[in-house]
Amino acid sequence: MNKFGPSIELRGLRKSFREGDRLHAVLDEASAVVSPGERVAILGPSGSGKSTLLNLISGIELPDAGTIRVGDRDITALSERERTLFRRLHVGFVFQFFNLLPTLTVMENLLLPM
Ligand SMILES: Nc1ncnc2c1ncn2[C@@H]1O[C@H](COP(=O)(O)OP(=O)(O)O)[C@@H](O)[C@H]1O
Ligand SMILES: [Mg+2]
Repeated sequence: MNKFGPSIELRGLRKSFREGDRLHAVLDEASAVVSPGERVAILGPSGSGKSTLLNLISGIELPDAGTIRVGDRDITALSERERTLFRRLHVGFVFQFFNLLPTLTVMENLLLPM
């Protein structure tokens, strides 16, 4: 971790979801490195796995395979409780639909966790 925050390293991420009797591979060996201070936009059609990737990086979900390093932490090695604490301290997540308060403005929703 430096003054710009932690680096993020994704290696060989796999995540599949069961659809009836078949497995739908959403992430298949996804790898990426984000440097401290770098701003990244993830683009892709609806259903291409953007939210799945963010859920993995923030420890909301665990990958089927691969590693996720944020700074000196291996997110996949943390317990659920440790991942919750990691999110509370280090992750800001604006959800697309839920966890938004309709009586607040967009800015107030963004500032609420702070
Ligand atoms: N919890 C889940 N259970 C089953 N299928 C899921 C789940 N989350 C995502 N998916 C499926 O994974 C694929 C990618 O979804 P998602 O990551 O939400 O895409 P995006 O955010 O790019 O629109 C979609 O086919 C979606 O239906
Ligand atoms: Mg999404």
